[in-house]
Amino acid sequence: MMPLKSISTDQQEIWAKNWQGQRLQSCYQVPSNIALVKYWGKVGPQIPGNPSLSMTLEECHTLTQMVVMPRQEGVPWVEFFFDDRPQESFAKKIEKWLTELSLDIPFLTKMSFSIKSRNSFPHSAGIASSASGMGALSACLGDILGQLHGEKMPLPIVSHWARLGSGSASRSVMGPFAWWGEGSLDNSNNQYAIVAPKVHESFMGMHDSIVMVSQSEKKVSSTQGHALMDHHPYKDVRYQQASANCERLYSIMKAGDWDAFIPLVEKEALELHGLMMNSDPSFILMEGTSLDIIHQVRNFRADTGLPLTFTMDAGPNVHLLYPKEYYRKIRPFIDNEILPLTEEQNCIHDYMGMGPVVKEWH
Ligand code: DP6
Repeated sequence: MMPLKSISTDQQEIWAKNWQGQRLQSCYQVPSNIALVKYWGKVGPQIPGNPSLSMTLEECHTLTQMVVMPRQEGVPWVEFFFDDRPQESFAKKIEKWLTELSLDIPFLTKMSFSIKSRNSFPHSAGIASSASGMGALSACLGDILGQLHGEKMPLPIVSHWARLGSGSASRSVMGPFAWWGEGSLDNSNNQYAIVAPKVHESFMGMHDSIVMVSQSEKKVSSTQGHALMDHHPYKDVRYQQASANCERLYSIMKAGDWDAFIPLVEKEALELHGLMMNSDPSFILMEGTSLDIIHQVRNFRADTGLPLTFTMDAGPNVHLLYPKEYYRKIRPFIDNEILPLTEEQNCIHDYMGMGPVVKEWH
């Protein structure tokens, strides 16, 4: 793996010399991602129990603007506005994250941060906002420190910072497919995610139509959820199987084998929910409607032979995955057969994206 060096004293001196206390700012749009092989369970400081493989999204994203000024006595280290309103709880989360980063980069304690952020998707949509949110903060911070140094912060460092904020965020700062965790892929490691290269063109532009089953708040936070794996009876088996699934799925994606992709992706999603169900305490995040959708998808596939499959995160919403060229054939099925099963009849038609984009705050 490419070693992740701490930020050197020389580097910090350059920053200190080049920063005369001037206002610095950065604004990034960073997408969420959907895991095809799930990260579920971690050890110590955000080290995953197994490698995971994800597709970066395009439409579900966080827009974040970060402004840096010299830190002053009596002024909060971080002020954070979400949807134009101050949000103390997330400001505290960011301070915790910066405290961790400042162990390596003490220079950060000299700065005060004023941050504005908003998501393109509703908060309650159950889409991993921590992935795009922490990814956007890391991209902005990398850009700001890069401005002082005169060159861009390397992607592994940005991904590493994002991981310390939220594991899945390590995968959101790149696209189109990201691998995070030690495995056979060159340079794969637990500290930061890397782009999974050479994926077959039939997976390029893959669609992810996210069907909202319930917009209610999550019943289990990801921190609680991961902790359930610490003493899970199937922990070792899961970590081994998930590692094998990651290797296999990546080979399948390089080969362009949708027939093999479908059962493996579904198995991963159901296994995540299975693990939650037989955790102690047990959680059922899947709803009746989620199951109805799964049956419909399988029936549709059997009837039409079209490559439509699904995955799920730690919530009831169902992500429908299919090759981009089938959109026109699959969309009517989603509108006519799937959405009427749901209360809100709400679906975000998302697709493969390439990661962070520099933006103007608006
Ligand atoms: C089910 O990355 O949200 O979405 O590291 O505690 O922030 P923390 O967890 P988080 O966990 C994501 C879990 C998952 C699967 C995945 O995205 O791989």
